[in-house]
Amino acid sequence: MKFKRILVTAALPYANGPLHIGHIAGCYLPADIYVRYLRSKGEDVIFICGSDEHGVPITIRAQKENTTPQAIVDKYHQILKESFKGLNISFDIYSRTTNKLHYQTAQDFFRTLYQKGVFIEKESEQFYDPEANQFLADRYIIGTCPKCGNDKAYGDQCEKCGSTLSPEELINPKSALTNATPVKKVTKNWYLPLDKLQPKIAEYIEQHKHWKPNVYGQCKSWLESTGGLQPRAMTRDLNWGVPVPPEIPGSQGKVLYVWFDAPIGYISATKELMPDKWEIYWKSQDTKLVHFIGKDNIVFHCIIFPAMLMEHGEYVLPYDVPANEFLNLEGEKISTSRNWAVWVDEYLKDFPGKEDVLRYVLCATAPETKDNDFTWKEFQTRNNSELADILGNFINRVVVLINKFYEGKIPHAGTFSKQDMLLINSISEAPLKIGEKIEQYKFRDALFELMQLARFGNKYLADNEPWKQIKSNPELVNTVMNLSAQIAANIAILSEPFLPNTSAKIFNALKLPHLKWSNAGSVNILNTGHQIQKEPIILFEKIEDSVIEKQIQKLQEKKVSYTNNNQPLMPLKTEISIDEFDKCDIRVGKVLKAEKVPNTDKLLKLEVDIGLEIRTIVSGVAHCINPKDIVGKQVIVLANLKPRKIKGIESKGMILYADNGNGQLVPVSPIQELTNGSSVK
Ligand code: MF3
Ligand code: ZN
Repeated sequence: MKFKRILVTAALPYANGPLHIGHIAGCYLPADIYVRYLRSKGEDVIFICGSDEHGVPITIRAQKENTTPQAIVDKYHQILKESFKGLNISFDIYSRTTNKLHYQTAQDFFRTLYQKGVFIEKESEQFYDPEANQFLADRYIIGTCPKCGNDKAYGDQCEKCGSTLSPEELINPKSALTNATPVKKVTKNWYLPLDKLQPKIAEYIEQHKHWKPNVYGQCKSWLESTGGLQPRAMTRDLNWGVPVPPEIPGSQGKVLYVWFDAPIGYISATKELMPDKWEIYWKSQDTKLVHFIGKDNIVFHCIIFPAMLMEHGEYVLPYDVPANEFLNLEGEKISTSRNWAVWVDEYLKDFPGKEDVLRYVLCATAPETKDNDFTWKEFQTRNNSELADILGNFINRVVVLINKFYEGKIPHAGTFSKQDMLLINSISEAPLKIGEKIEQYKFRDALFELMQLARFGNKYLADNEPWKQIKSNPELVNTVMNLSAQIAANIAILSEPFLPNTSAKIFNALKLPHLKWSNAGSVNILNTGHQIQKEPIILFEKIEDSVIEKQIQKLQEKKVSYTNNNQPLMPLKTEISIDEFDKCDIRVGKVLKAEKVPNTDKLLKLEVDIGLEIRTIVSGVAHCINPKDIVGKQVIVLANLKPRKIKGIESKGMILYADNGNGQLVPVSPIQELTNGSSVK
């Protein structure tokens, strides 16, 4: 099949947290390299993404933070969008699934399937919260894990022992909303009969044997699982999501399953981008539809979404679904809840101007065929000994030498030696070699081939030593410097998909317009006499050990551990000496008075007798402590803390509280009555 256009999507990230390097390496960077390459080749390509703003985790997050799901997705949509922009991920559109056009598109899609009689209606018993009057998603049911006894297991999973659960298995289940005991209630939902569709789906997958082995393999094992594919509910009893079209009887209180609406987000975003032309992309058989995803999304993109598209009937089916494996960090699984991650927004703040370094390292270590590990040490090595020493060094030498020998004008190439001919041959093969690797989704190999050019260039200079031969053999040096400059120009073109900022800098240094892929492979890009930039060009600075150590320390310090009861615990702070501790003057004091500070939520103003004097201390605990429960009690006071004004009140010292793990603070008290002012050591 000859394709006329390429429609590339990258998985819509959930708008309930920031992006980390695993997301980038697994999905967005490969997609971006692919698209930039195709653009450079002049292909008709569009690149679609946006935020996935539905799903139960978003509602849970909202509940925890005491806000609305809309406020959560508004916040994270912005953060996600900025992180992508910061890393130069070049979407043609970054949309979101709470916008109107998406609601319409998803509802229309559902309506069509409904009207065609695709769905089966099925009754099932679901857990229901009689106090909140609503059905409970599995995540909203908390109880004791039958396998390990953790009393905070969720209805879908126990995070302590890792077992997958169903709410029925929980001992003593409670609603996370109201703590009520859930009851079972019958509800009707619409199911996609994947069982009936299995033969069609199997045929589709057999026509796509070219998929990456990990992807094809996972599909096969789904199809071959005992009992085969099962009908899957496409609607849910929830109040956050795209409502089921209201004219459908029984639609009240029901929304589309998040995995029904989210992939349709690709279609709505295309509509938003090209209101007049979107159908050409989605409804022509000669469109190559390529979904970049992480491996946890395979079944949805290879089985469920294609089944939806097939049953709808008007759409082209995914041609390829290049899914990556997972990226680990310093030998451990990346985990949001444990805060074990390198967050993109933080990286961009800590390493301004080094977007390409992260792109380079993530591409070079991408988990293409198996899980892979990111370490800060490797990040440093790849920056210092590959980007700086090989690529940056080569480009800078070319610029500096051409200025030194020829006042920045490209010299004329004379006759070519055998070595020159070999080099010219490598240059001419490079665009094809790199392009082929990119088209096969072998981005690591493609990047390696690009770096080979810089390696050849460095070796060429080292072998011919123009700095020594310029006097004795100027003819030879003319040729050497001409060819070296041509390599630099080729690198400018061919690095663009991987390192867009670097590519732009090289083009600028060579005073070339941004050339396209078809210009590469030649050794006549720069004309004899062409003037290049006078200043040296430092593309990559070395990264010092101290910078790397700081990042490793930051990771360790922010890592959250869990008690055996699955309560998050703060990691230990960095070690201090006894002298440092000795500087703290800690005393026993008695609370004489306590009152809430008016017009504040959390502030409590306390009068504390610390023996030497009576102190006024303001604590942010009014939301957890009733004033009458603390008056008359002895507490522990950090007495030599510099006074601070809080809401106009001078607070002298600090009372110590323990955190009960749920954000509640409990005063710490001596276990027997002591003289006020007794020192604590
Ligand atoms: N939000 C999902 C995830 O992060 C991916 C959705 S991809 C889409 O795992 F196709 F549904 F949009
Ligand atoms: Zn368990």
